[in-house]
Amino acid sequence: MPVVFILLCLSGAAESLYKQWIPDTNYGNETNWDKGSVPCGNDIVQFLAQRKVSVYVETVYSIKEMRFPEDGEFILPSGGGFTVNSGGEPGCGAGVTTQFKDAQSLQWFDPALWKTAASSDDLEKGRLLFSVHEESVPCQHDDIVFRADSTFRVDTSSNQQGVPVQSVSVLGQKFSGGSDFTQYLGSRSGTLQFHGSSKPSVGASGCSDASGCNCGNSANHDRICSKIKCAPMSCRKPLYPAGHCCDVCGAIVTVRYTSSFNLESYRNRLQNLFLGRTPYRSIQMGMSKVLKSQWFLWMIPHADEALIQIVLLDGESGALAETLARDILKDVQDQGSTLGISGAEFQASSGATSGDRDQGNAGVVVGAVIGVIVLVAGILVLAVLFRRGIVRIPTMPNIPTISIAFLRSLAQSQQENSEFTDHGFENPMFDDPGLMPEVPGIYGGKDMNSIAMTSSGVYFTNPAFDANESSADFTV
Ligand SMILES: *[C@@H]1O[C@H](CO)[C@@H](O)[C@H](O)[C@H]1NC(C)=O
Repeated sequence: MPVVFILLCLSGAAESLYKQWIPDTNYGNETNWDKGSVPCGNDIVQFLAQRKVSVYVETVYSIKEMRFPEDGEFILPSGGGFTVNSGGEPGCGAGVTTQFKDAQSLQWFDPALWKTAASSDDLEKGRLLFSVHEESVPCQHDDIVFRADSTFRVDTSSNQQGVPVQSVSVLGQKFSGGSDFTQYLGSRSGTLQFHGSSKPSVGASGCSDASGCNCGNSANHDRICSKIKCAPMSCRKPLYPAGHCCDVCGAIVTVRYTSSFNLESYRNRLQNLFLGRTPYRSIQMGMSKVLKSQWFLWMIPHADEALIQIVLLDGESGALAETLARDILKDVQDQGSTLGISGAEFQASSGATSGDRDQGNAGVVVGAVIGVIVLVAGILVLAVLFRRGIVRIPTMPNIPTISIAFLRSLAQSQQENSEFTDHGFENPMFDDPGLMPEVPGIYGGKDMNSIAMTSSGVYFTNPAFDANESSADFTV
């Protein structure tokens, strides 16, 4: 028991993720050179003159000549450096001019440039988590990691004042206190590594809510999505997960939780129960807390409600993801109360939803019975009202036609009414309900049913009145 208790405490401590910046500006990384390989001893090395750059030199490189940028630094760990030779290095060819690629435009809010994992250990072992685009870049509660043996240049421009995160690790040093990191940002390396209109800040509290925390990136949604190219989707009813930039084929499970829900344990549960097993190994799962606006009576926006969104993608039609969604719902039905889950539903890109099957036939039958009762009651009420003469069946209006007599009367009435620019109207028929059915042909008079457009609005001629009586015109 004590062991179990300690494990629960550990796993319930915090729900923050590790996000690692993928690119680097290391000298020895061949992807940083325009020729696709690290320069050799007969080459001329060129850094773009107009640029600032921080370069990590892992080991000793031999060069013939080097052209420096406007501003920059070499970070030399022990064992790093350069030797200059006169260009006679064997096996290096005649020598070319090789340029260091520009890292100026790499953006903090580009989802393609980050890796996400649940722990630093998982990051190292490559056990990565899938997440929607907004959460593929750093969230406010995350620990941000720049690889220890590397340097970088990142544009941290944001739609908000700052870019709050829990901690930032640079060159093996972890910053989680505000003043230390501010000092680092002002240092030589700090100014070369981080640029842009906003600066990251550390010390935001980690997520202390075991049920998870909202990422906080919705203000940068457009900035994040501007980097994403959405592939066309071929499924019947593509889904749009909250926080994502593209439609997807697959399934979305929405979970309502109670105070005992723990996001990380639930993620582990689904991993062990389903995703780690055939046939679900190929499925990508993104689980996070999202805020959904609730609508009262489908019209009036209500408070945001926090829900757990589980996005399931199988990379194909979404059929396998849908099967998994049904399995997850079954698990919720069996174990929901012990997991801290009060309800769950799903939508699949095939068009299926949890309402179709899992709420069972009982729901359909009850719905049908209620529908029939309401319908019968409605007919009875109408019949009674009809018998008492409160409701009459109106004659259907004819298709409007325009006669010369009408046009004449319209022209006349418009002249008299030209001062009515108020776009409201009074319906004189409401004053005398008996008027409507008592006058025969009142809706049928083909001369009278009419609509005319004028520069000041749409005029309806009310056929209940004499065409010559100008006060009967409505202005809408
Ligand atoms: C080189 O850079 C690329 C992308 O910038 C990165 O994916 C890769 O991991 C780097 N290589 C090494 C050895 O660090």
